[in-house]
Amino acid sequence: MKGKHIIIGITGSIAAYKACTLVRLFVKAGAEVIVVMTPSAKEFVTPLTLATLSRHAVVSEFFDRRDGSWHSHVDLGLWADAMIIAPATAATLGKMAHGIADNMLVTTYLSMKAPVFVAPAMDLDMFAHPTTQENLLTLERHGVRTIAPAEGELASTLTGKGRMEEPENIFRHIEDFFATTDTATADDATPPHRGTLLLTAGPTHEYIDPVRFIGNCSTGKMGFALAEAAAEAGFDVELVSGPTNLATRHPRIRRTDVVSAAEMYEAADRLFPNCRAAILCAAVADFTPATTATEKIKREATGNWEIPLIPTTDIAQALGEKKAVGQILAGFALETHNGHSNAIDKLLRKNLDFIVLNSLQDEGAGFGYDTNKVDIIDKDATTTPLPLKAKTEVARDIIRHLCAIIDNDNAK
Ligand code: C5P
Repeated sequence: MKGKHIIIGITGSIAAYKACTLVRLFVKAGAEVIVVMTPSAKEFVTPLTLATLSRHAVVSEFFDRRDGSWHSHVDLGLWADAMIIAPATAATLGKMAHGIADNMLVTTYLSMKAPVFVAPAMDLDMFAHPTTQENLLTLERHGVRTIAPAEGELASTLTGKGRMEEPENIFRHIEDFFATTDTATADDATPPHRGTLLLTAGPTHEYIDPVRFIGNCSTGKMGFALAEAAAEAGFDVELVSGPTNLATRHPRIRRTDVVSAAEMYEAADRLFPNCRAAILCAAVADFTPATTATEKIKREATGNWEIPLIPTTDIAQALGEKKAVGQILAGFALETHNGHSNAIDKLLRKNLDFIVLNSLQDEGAGFGYDTNKVDIIDKDATTTPLPLKAKTEVARDIIRHLCAIIDNDNAK
């Protein structure tokens, strides 16, 4: 934490007093802290207290009242290594999600180049309200990280979820974040350029009529984590994504959004020849309706409805057939039983170099979870089992595995 530039944003919540402890924890750990307050935060805790604790003038107005000089939110955005908004009220989360830049805190957020964390604090009903949840989802899509509120006694005397996470835990959260990113940056100080990696991610939607489709439970989290890890490791990433709610962060990721299996195949087939490797992580529909109705099918007119389905192209198999010497191809296998033998069967049938076996039976693994537990199986059947870990970590392991194969290939 030593020498890190931290912006702590404080908004008008009773939990604002806890921000004093948070500022102190960062200063004690050797960070430089600048506090940005909303006007209503000053009703709860004084700028004098925070300026004393942070050893910097508090920023809350667009202009200095004494000499009219401008407080540059742009400079703050460039200066910071992280911005932490704690407490973050429902109002500020809403303004952030919708770009309502009517105070210095939201303006600073919109100029921020560094990672942003929010620690929500509000009454349980406000936190559970669909508006707040949608705003948090929007912010997550924009790359903001939420430090979830804890369950506990609230200022309203009610008990529930909405209590700002304790300052010590927020501090630890940021410490862990820097520990991971700093190690990654140190490991990959100047990662060698590794060529282009094609990635497919997310589900596909096969439309039956204008309003209905056949989809699946994939959220795209694993594929998007792979895209970030690959870009960090020095690949240019061509990410072909089915419909998801996720955003990409790394500038080396180029994204092509598709909807159906046919569109995903078209994009992957076009991009693959220029790629050094491909990891096919998407949950592609195996069947698609033989025809898509141009008008909504009506129950009254149709009665029983049977939908003729035809198989889609297996992208992995198609690319496996076209794979040139030196190209590496990897896939995923999601199995409910006989995982290992089914995965090896797929690996051989689709001419893959390795396959990542995902078991739905493992607690915390698979669709929607932030964690995953996988085995990596090579084409000589060597199996590397990985323990349950965050999908971001699993992604790094898979990319390291790919890099080792490429390095080995290059050394031949
Ligand atoms: O045969 P199965 O669908 O279980 O194989 C999974 C692997 O094949 C995954 O890597 C998936 O992305 C890929 N796949 C594909 N195109 C399909 C079906 C699966 O690329 N149509």
